[in-house]
Amino acid sequence: MLTNKDEFNIEDFYAHYLKGPKIFQKREALETSYVPEELPHRDKEIKKIAELTACALIGDAPSSFLCYGMTGTGKTATVRYVSQKLTRHARAKKPWWIYVNCNVVSTPYRILAHIYNTISNRERIPPTGLPKDVIFKQLLGLLDQKVGDSVCFLVLDEIDILSDKKGGNEILYDLTRLNENLDYCKTSLIGISNKLNFKKYLDPRVLSSLGGECPIVFHPYNANELADILKKRAAIAFYPGTHEEGVIRYCAALAAEENGDARKALQLLKKAAEIAQRKHSKKILERHVDEARLELEKDQVEEFILGLPFQAKLVLTAIYLISKYFPNHVIISGDVYDVHSELCNLLPKKRKLTERRISDYINELTLAGLICARIKSRGYYGRTKIITLSMGLDMLERILSKEESIAELLNYRPLSLQKDKVKINGAVFKKLY
Ligand SMILES: Nc1ncnc2c1ncn2[C@@H]1O[C@H](COP(=O)(O)OP(=O)(O)OP(=O)(O)O)[C@@H](O)[C@H]1O
Ligand SMILES: [Mg+2]
Repeated sequence: MLTNKDEFNIEDFYAHYLKGPKIFQKREALETSYVPEELPHRDKEIKKIAELTACALIGDAPSSFLCYGMTGTGKTATVRYVSQKLTRHARAKKPWWIYVNCNVVSTPYRILAHIYNTISNRERIPPTGLPKDVIFKQLLGLLDQKVGDSVCFLVLDEIDILSDKKGGNEILYDLTRLNENLDYCKTSLIGISNKLNFKKYLDPRVLSSLGGECPIVFHPYNANELADILKKRAAIAFYPGTHEEGVIRYCAALAAEENGDARKALQLLKKAAEIAQRKHSKKILERHVDEARLELEKDQVEEFILGLPFQAKLVLTAIYLISKYFPNHVIISGDVYDVHSELCNLLPKKRKLTERRISDYINELTLAGLICARIKSRGYYGRTKIITLSMGLDMLERILSKEESIAELLNYRPLSLQKDKVKINGAVFKKLY
């Protein structure tokens, strides 16, 4: 019987894995959802939030407020941290904390239903269907009945997303006014945003109720601060002797270059540790961090492409197909337009775009660094854009194949570029010679 030496043997793989050195002691300590016991370099912000919320310990309603800062600056972690401490210190009047991520629970209706269902601890409001004022009335009744004379904090994380939604500002306004209609319970709203121009996103009345003119600002971490954060997390996550200060500092320095984002720093360290473990290394080394950085960059490109609007993905697919099937062809925007139109014909309900829109998408893909578009003067024919892909065909194919309707197109050989075909009035015919 023939055996293929290159075949992956899962039994051997697991046995080999178990024999290798162990790096992770508590992997979840590097997860984003993990709330650490300490938050280095956030004393000022913790103090401000603790001062603002302390009156909840004696059943008084704190003023609503807004936390603002760039991504990965510890806003969510700090609010969660203070909420745990406050709850631990409360005696008779335990405050309630309802946490809503407006990116996940994204419509005004669902937010109300989520708040209601979390307090009632049972799914009672259906996911759609009830008029808003009916849910509001039910919510007011529930707050008075269940929370009684304690305080209920409503944390609206990524609050700016809600303001974009239909009825979003209206519901925010209603939520900031809940106390006017409650008999026993008091509520306090905490908004969190990472949009630099968050003021633009919120209705001025909502902004003023949230004290938006002086929000609690979270600044990006510098390399030393990130190193302190990583050191504490690494001590919990890894076995002793598996990591050295140099590696922690290296991860911190790389993340500091990229906006001082603690989430990125933690991801980098975790990925480096995974690579070290995969390679049976007893320690995490700087070269594992370098590899981790490359892998994370690839993940980011993938996330970015999959997050593009469908038509932008289709434009990219058109460029991919031309590059794959006609590697020597010099691609100009007209080719992309032709192939994109062909692809639209193959997809139900997808309309063709104008050359102008295709050109806009080409500009956007260029700005994002996915393609390169050089302007070239072609004499009598004027100036034209020469388009090339900035990434390998294999990588792009792997990413595009994750989008179901595009996966089916990846082996399509564009007709409009085949030499034995001719295009007349937008339709492609085979040349008869
Ligand atoms: N000072 C800190 N000490 C320890 N860990 C921290 C600190 N600041 C942030 N982190 C960790 O970094 C990660 C990102 O933090 P967090 O989720 O709070 O950021 P954020 O400001 O809410 O970002 P975003 O705006 O993207 O939601 C989390 O894993 C968090 O535990
Ligand atoms: Mg957050």
